[in-house]
Amino acid sequence: MRCLVTGVAGFVGSHLGERLIAQGHEVVGVDCFTDYYPRTIKESNLATLRKSPAFTFLSADLARIELASVLEGVDVVYHQAAQAGVRASWGSTFESYTHHNVLATQRLLEAVKGSKSVRRFVYASSSSVYGETTDLPMRETSLPRPFSPYGVTKLAAEHLCELYRNNFGVSTVSLRYFTVYGPRQRPDMGFHKFIASMMRDEPVTVFGSGEQTRDFTFVDDIVDANIAAGEKDGVEGVYNIGGGSRVTLQHVLETMAELVGVPLKLNRIEEQAGDVHHTEADASRARDRLGYKPRVSLRDGLARQIEWARTGAAPASS
Ligand SMILES: NC(=O)c1ccc[n+]([C@@H]2O[C@H](COP(=O)([O-])OP(=O)(O)OC[C@H]3O[C@@H](n4cnc5c(N)ncnc54)[C@H](O)[C@@H]3O)[C@@H](O)[C@H]2O)c1
Repeated sequence: MRCLVTGVAGFVGSHLGERLIAQGHEVVGVDCFTDYYPRTIKESNLATLRKSPAFTFLSADLARIELASVLEGVDVVYHQAAQAGVRASWGSTFESYTHHNVLATQRLLEAVKGSKSVRRFVYASSSSVYGETTDLPMRETSLPRPFSPYGVTKLAAEHLCELYRNNFGVSTVSLRYFTVYGPRQRPDMGFHKFIASMMRDEPVTVFGSGEQTRDFTFVDDIVDANIAAGEKDGVEGVYNIGGGSRVTLQHVLETMAELVGVPLKLNRIEEQAGDVHHTEADASRARDRLGYKPRVSLRDGLARQIEWARTGAAPASS
């Protein structure tokens, strides 16, 4: 099978690309190296993929290039490219969110609509589409009400997937990821920053009380969900992809400090606009239709991310 992975130099995209290659597929990867975090990090995410003869890389912005030729012979599109990050989505940087999240997705869907080869379009959506709610767990049937500009753009792109599916029969699947962690996690994300502080034996800066909860999901489980969404027949639509247990941030920090082997030192600062208090996935739809079952426990996943932070080695996802 020939697969297109967009955002292939990013955290999730690079793991997904490696798994697809390991399974014997051909991968065309696209990334435009947005400056949200350093290109050197993205180049190192790509290092293993670049060694494979089954991998072709295109450095390009999906919102600007002609896409029909990129899709030639492609069977499945895994659309991971986006401007991520909740907190940076306020103010003047919003333009980059509409460009990379909404316009790029619309252009890609338009090209897929005209493609003869693509039979599935998998979109990396987000739990941020749900917003601030006490109605937990979050279900695909709940009314999405994003709480950040980022969430608005992720939901807009998800709606685009649905309407290209319903109007033109493009076979789209949207996977709503719940906070992803693991080796290569983006440097702006919580676990990445917490582990770095602990390794320097410095206080960890935490927004709010620490009592906020998240359904943290290990990156290999996210890759599993993508593969199932790309390959299974009759699974179009929207799915929650969570890690299988909801825990407080305080619990995560205590486990992390124990694994790093340092006492926990905290520097609490005020909550940030756009951050929701709780997330929890009802992942029963993904379990029943995609056969999705998270395999990596929080403790094991944290140990793997800490190992990566120590050695720089990100073992290929299994
Ligand atoms: N990491 C999480 O916890 C999380 C949670 C929910 C949803 N998601 C979604 O998962 C996807 C992957 O997230 P990530 O954490 O790996 O982010 P990332 O920033 O590491 O990767 C995204 C990549 O996409 C590239 N990109 C952005 N716009 C592009 C464009 N127009 N053309 C080509 N390349 C472009 C960037 O350069 C980057 O390398 C994103 O769609 C994100 O919204 C992530």
